[in-house]
Formats: sequence, structure tokens, C-alpha cells
Amino acid sequence: MLSQQIRTEFLNFFEQHGHLRVPSAPLIPRDDPSLLLVSAGMVPFKAYFLGQKVAPQDRLTSCQKAFRATDIDEVGDLSHDTFFEMLGNFSFGAYFKAEAIAYAFELLTRNFGLDPARLYPSVHPSDETSVQLWEKVAGIPAERISRLEENFWQAGPTGPCGVDSEIYFDLGERFGSGQGERPGQGERYLEIWNLVFMDSEQLTDGSTVPLAHPGVDTGMGLERMAMVLQGCDSIFDTDLFAPIQEDFAGRASKLAEQPGDQGARHLRRLSDHARAACMLIADGVVPSNEGRGYVLRRLLRRASVSALSLGVEGGLAPCVSTVVAVLGETYSELASGAERVRAVIEQEEVRFEETLSRGLEHFEEVLASAEGGTIAGSAAFRLHDTFGFPLEVTEDLASARGVEIDREGVERLLKVQREQARASRTISLAGTAETDLPPTEFVGYDQLEASGQVRLLLRQGQPLDRAGAGEEVEVVLDVSPFYAEGGGQVGDRGALTWGDGSALVLDTRAPQAGARVQHCRVLEGELRQGQDVRATVDREHRAGCAAHHSATHLLNAALHHRLGEGVIQRGSLVSAERATFDFSWPHPLSEY
Ligand code: GLY
Repeated sequence: MLSQQIRTEFLNFFEQHGHLRVPSAPLIPRDDPSLLLVSAGMVPFKAYFLGQKVAPQDRLTSCQKAFRATDIDEVGDLSHDTFFEMLGNFSFGAYFKAEAIAYAFELLTRNFGLDPARLYPSVHPSDETSVQLWEKVAGIPAERISRLEENFWQAGPTGPCGVDSEIYFDLGERFGSGQGERPGQGERYLEIWNLVFMDSEQLTDGSTVPLAHPGVDTGMGLERMAMVLQGCDSIFDTDLFAPIQEDFAGRASKLAEQPGDQGARHLRRLSDHARAACMLIADGVVPSNEGRGYVLRRLLRRASVSALSLGVEGGLAPCVSTVVAVLGETYSELASGAERVRAVIEQEEVRFEETLSRGLEHFEEVLASAEGGTIAGSAAFRLHDTFGFPLEVTEDLASARGVEIDREGVERLLKVQREQARASRTISLAGTAETDLPPTEFVGYDQLEASGQVRLLLRQGQPLDRAGAGEEVEVVLDVSPFYAEGGGQVGDRGALTWGDGSALVLDTRAPQAGARVQHCRVLEGELRQGQDVRATVDREHRAGCAAHHSATHLLNAALHHRLGEGVIQRGSLVSAERATFDFSWPHPLSEY
């Protein structure tokens, strides 16, 4: 069965069972700061599960574009990928375990024709109901059902969650003897579908509360289902990947020289990363050194390293037309954005080549100073951190010269770097991200002055009762006219005054939804917890910010008007004195 037929069969089946078919959302999550990229079919529906929004219907079905970088190091084996398509059916209070299991069994065995004897469900050890349902609905005896502690699912650190029941397919003896292997372990049993029984919400403090209306979220990986239904040895041999692999293999002059299965692994990695990069760029992600832009840059660099190892003539960019041939009909944004996708990839490849040639000079110096056949962790880390030289490249080049790198040493330094970055983020919020802040009513859209009361005084995140002249503190008011830093615009400044005292408001931030923190310096008197104050926004500062804010919107609109939809805003800084506006555009700009 071709992948297009699998998509259609799945969506039609659930439509016939009363589900509304909805199109895939973009890979960049809307209104969800907890995730860099959409990682599952349910992500666009989180608010429906939580009862914060009403779904257009209480049953939905979709084929959602998804990306997971968690398994990036596994990519190259037979079944892992980064970008994938997830088929799902969703219930928001409409049905629960019994119906979800019955639908899944019917679709797999009747529509997709799978042999029930090759299906192996797993359940959470606490979920006896599902064991009974699998037996009753599908006739699968309890001894074929694994009880796995890891059968619990949630997308991201907070949000809807619940125990799940995974369905594994026995690929047969070609994939393992079956001795000592079982669902969740080894390659023989492939997870093809996950049925999540959403009944709780995970909160920021790690606790869970029950959902008002338990629901169902399921996720079937299209690539894996295609592998099963097309009788392939790997997802890379299905119609979703084979043309992309063939494109690279046809241009890879050094493929045959690779030792062992290295050539095949490089080809799979290239195919996955190039395909994923195309989908990310088509949805507006551009390479950068942070966030999702960094995910993309890393994919392209890893793919370039594989392309170099295989001697792929023309590099990555020519594969765009092949990826469009495979996925362009299903995802029109890929077809219509193909030219831009290609330009972004070409530009990034050129940049990477420059990085590599600069890094090579330093690599030779590092190699010369390697002692005892090992490059010190600090030297390899410096190549990576200062010159952007990927560790894989250092490792490949070093091993070609009979030298190793101290990988553990590098990992230690990478960990320190990550921890430093985390610490600096925390300090910049003066500890307020960790403290539970009382909510503030914001009245600053139409008022530049307001009366309020000090609800909380903090210094470096620690509550205190009072602060005297000269001290700098964080102040949370019950009512505030101060606009918080956000969207690149600096926070409001101004003053707090009371009886015999005053404080300057130096900055305003919103480290948690609904909370607002004024960073203040007390000028005279004593500021106390519970103090009634008059809060006044610095009008000139606010007007300057507002003007520069408008200027960035005008510039953005003008760029879109002049250059078209390919212009992507990358960031902006708006202050009272000036505004900066970063954007990406895959071509050089001409003089106006
Ligand atoms: N949302 C279910 C899964 O991704 O496995």
C-alpha cells in the first residue's frame, strides 16, 4: 500500500466514524512556548484537551507534520527519523479506552489487513482495564500484552498526559530470533501506534490534576506503517524515502569505499536530515545559532558531513526537487516554497564550507599538539565552540590520521557550557522565574498611572519585608500600568511614589504568564510589603518605544510588499531611542 493510500485510508476510516478531518498545522507551534517544534499530532489540540478552548468537534483526525530531535543520534539505523508524519484520532470527552482500542484493532486488521497474531500491545502496569479490553475487543490474550512502566505519555514539560497503550508489530525472524526480545526491546517488535488515554494535566510544579473530560490522543508513525505495509526492511526503503536515498546514492562517488555499513548509515542520515530540513524551511525556520534555527543548522551540518564522507556531487541542495516530488502534493507549502528552500540550503552549505576550511587550519595545529595519539577534550571543544567545527568532523579527520579525541572530556565541557547558559538565563530574571508570583492586573493599555499595592518584594528571587533607600528590588503590584518587556520591546520605566518615599522603576518584566515584575531602585523612604503606591509610567520613554514599535511594523510590511512572503522576521529590539530589525531573505538585496 502506497503511503498516500495509507494516509487516505486512515483519515477516511475515522471520518466514517464521526471524526472531523483537520489539516496539518505548521511545524512551528502556535502559542506554545513549551515546545520548539510540533512533536506529535496532539500538539495543536492541547487547549482542547485542557478545556481551555472548544474543539470544532469532539472527535478529530489528522495527519500532522512532526519533528523530534530527541533521537537524532539514532538516525542512520532502520527505523528512526527526525521529521515524520503522524496519523492520529482524537477524542475530547467523546470516547475513551474501549472505543480507541476497538477502532485501532479494526483499522489495523480489516483495512490494513495485518495479521492479529502479529500484534503485540503494551500497557502501563497500572492499567488493568486496557488489558481486559485488548482481550475482549481484539481477542489478544493477557500473556501477549507487555506491562511497561514507560507507557505514559505527555508532550513537553507541562500539559495533558496519561497512560498509554502501544501497539507493536512483529516484523518476523529476519529482525531477530524473538529470544530475549520483546516489545520495547530489540528491532523485531516495531511500535506502530500509540493510544494515549489523556486523563490528567501536568502542572509547572510537577504535580498533576485530573482533566474535566478525559480524552484520547493517538499517534501512528506513517513511515513505520509504510515499512510494515510495503514489506520493507527499513523506513528508508519505503516510497517516502527511497527516491531521496536513490538521489544521494546516484551522486555519491565514495559510497562503495565506506567500511561495513557506514555507507548505508550515511545515506539514511542524509536522506532523513535533508528531508527534515526541507520541511522545516518550508514552514519558515531559517538556520541560526539558537532555538529551532539551531536545530535546522545542526541537521544541515550533519547532513553535509555525511555528504562529504560519501563524496556527494552537488551536495544537498539538488535533493529539494526529489523531496518535493515525494511530499509536495501532500504539503503544498513545500511545493510553493521549493525555490526558497533550495536557496536557504545552498546558502547554508556555502557558509559551512567556509567554516570547515577555516577550521581545517586550526585542526592541523591541534593535531600537531596531540599527545599520545589523543586530542585533548579542551582542544576539540575549542574547535567546536570557537570555530564551529563539528565534533563528528574532528573525529573523522582525526581517525583518518590514526588519532582519537577525548570524547568524555568534550562532553564534560559541553555540559558545563549548557549549565552556564541555563544559569545566566535564571539570573537575568533575578530568580523570579522560580518563585510563584501573585497575578497582576495590567491596566497600561489605556492608563499611564494607577494606584496599586505591593503584593511581593523580592531580591534575587528571595522574598523580603522591606527595602530602604539605595536598594534594588523586584516589586510585584496587584495593579500595574507598566508594560513588560516582550516581543523584543523593552519594558516600561517610571516611578513608584508613596507617603514619604519614592522608587525608580528601571525595567518591567513578565517572567510568568499573568505576573509582572518591576525592577526598582528605592530613592527615599522605605518600601514595604503591602504598601499602597502610586505607579507612574515614564511617558516619554513609552512614547519613544511606541514610535519605534510602529516603525518595525512598517518596515516589516514594506519588506513583504517589496520582496514577498519569503521575508522572515528573525527578531527585533525596540527601545525608546532606537529599533533594530533582523530579517532573513535567501538572496542578496539589490540597491533600491
Ligand atoms: N501523542 C502520542 C505519541 O506521540 O506517541
